[in-house]
Amino acid sequence: MKILIINGSPKGERSNSLRLANAFAEGMGTRVSTEVETVDLSKLDIRSCKGCFGCWKATPGKCVIKDDMPSVIEKLIAADVIVYSFPLYYFSVPGILKNMIDRMLPMVLPFMAERSDGVGSGSHPARYDMSGKRYVLISTCGFYSAKGNYDAVCGMFDHICGKDNYEKIFCGQGELFAIDALRAQTSAYLDTVNKAGAEFAGSRISDETREELSRLLFPKEQFEAMADASWGVSKDEGNTEKADDSLIFTRQMAALYNKNSFDGNERILEMHYTDLDKRYQIILGKDGSTVIDSDLREASTVINTPYTVWVDIADGKISGTEALGKHLYTVNGDFSLMVNWDRYFGVEKPADKTVSGKKPPVMSAMLIPWCVFWVILPWLGAQWAIIPLAVAALTPAFMIKHELTIYDRLSAGAAAILSAAALITGDTIMPRIISYVIFGGMWLISCFTKEPLCAAYVKYNYGGESALDNPLFMKTNYILAACWGIFYLLTAALAWVLGGHTAIFSILSNILPAAMGAFTAFFINWYPKHLASLPQ
Ligand SMILES: Cc1cc2nc3c(=O)[nH]c(=O)nc-3n(C[C@H](O)[C@H](O)[C@H](O)COP(=O)(O)O)c2cc1C
Repeated sequence: MKILIINGSPKGERSNSLRLANAFAEGMGTRVSTEVETVDLSKLDIRSCKGCFGCWKATPGKCVIKDDMPSVIEKLIAADVIVYSFPLYYFSVPGILKNMIDRMLPMVLPFMAERSDGVGSGSHPARYDMSGKRYVLISTCGFYSAKGNYDAVCGMFDHICGKDNYEKIFCGQGELFAIDALRAQTSAYLDTVNKAGAEFAGSRISDETREELSRLLFPKEQFEAMADASWGVSKDEGNTEKADDSLIFTRQMAALYNKNSFDGNERILEMHYTDLDKRYQIILGKDGSTVIDSDLREASTVINTPYTVWVDIADGKISGTEALGKHLYTVNGDFSLMVNWDRYFGVEKPADKTVSGKKPPVMSAMLIPWCVFWVILPWLGAQWAIIPLAVAALTPAFMIKHELTIYDRLSAGAAAILSAAALITGDTIMPRIISYVIFGGMWLISCFTKEPLCAAYVKYNYGGESALDNPLFMKTNYILAACWGIFYLLTAALAWVLGGHTAIFSILSNILPAAMGAFTAFFINWYPKHLASLPQ
């Protein structure tokens, strides 16, 4: 199938609309075999129609102007699918595209004809067989939504292609497609356009996909704040001074603030660009964000970063957590802002799913068999070991919606075997000592692998597999895994020494893990914050 993309943006290859058109054509290519050709009008010499009607009278079918238009007409005739890709200019098509359309006059015959679709008051018959061709209009515009802006465009194409005889994808907030920092949002939209292309190649774009295509990239208010900030000029009348790049950048970042994340406390985030020796504060409040560059207040969180590093983070060249882990920037003050960055700055988190499509693993899948084992054996005796045995056997089934880690499987297996051993031998001490050795051993051995035990579970809260590249995350998890490993090996030793059945041991074996839990809760907050505040 021959697809001809007419790129009607004066920006040529840098066109936002063209990104959508390419995604659409790629999508078509996933369904049918395609041959895609793009005609970049900005690079062609296509002069405006003289209105001489020479192409109807003196040289029928041939224009008197000698430029690049004849080759475009050849391609239009040969194509199976014609995709008009263009920006909205003054609620219509850009001049270069209108020029091209006017120059399509040689493609029709001069005679008057009736229209069957009720559009307008007449038409001219086609000079060439254009039946069976499919048309697609793909366009981005600058306002927050495409709604209501394309009446003139549709009015014109109803005449050219036939009433509604074309597919259309019109997308507001078009300039966002050029911003690397917003790739997460724009690529999700491009994926939908790609899907639309595949569906179009099959038959037609589904209502569900159409609905997705009409969704805004950002809410109106947030988009407009970002757009206004991007110009770098003040709204104040008479103020023609262009703002500093770092200030424009900070304003755009502030515009991403999601005011729904406001938790009752106003936060002041200070961006200290160390290489520029500049400080700006973003005040994150109930009604939105404000950027100030003078009369700075006491900040709740200060980010000390070279401007270049923060731009790289925004452009997705390095993740914020990875850069922090590498000490490329430091953070002082309230670290919770960093932990919840995505919530405050509105970048949607991808759905919590693992590679297998299941929900991420949960640590309770590993802990439940052990906890039941450790509670039942000392308090009810070996004859009740059937309970931990049953729990260990059933836990994987209860956790069917979650991916299971190797530790979940090992724990269920070991707890089941030790419960069976207790049941058969009637001994509760040795199986418990062995259980502590196995449990502690799992934690310790995991420290010699690329993924310490706790990381296998919590990494999904920190970006999934990419968390493993984050030195801050990894250091914290290795230390904790080692602590828990040593703790349970010591517990095994204590159980051995105390005989496992004394009241002291039973109390200690409950209190000490609770204390370790409290230490863990403290450590996971304190340690990353401590590391983040250390200079390079
Ligand atoms: C001269 C001019 C006129 C424009 N007119 C409109 C308009 O009427 N409505 C609108 O929403 N955006 C308008 N825009 C914004 C563009 O449609 C928007 O930036 C678009 O995403 C550019 O797409 P492109 O990168 O494919 O050229 C206009 C831009 C320019 C330069």
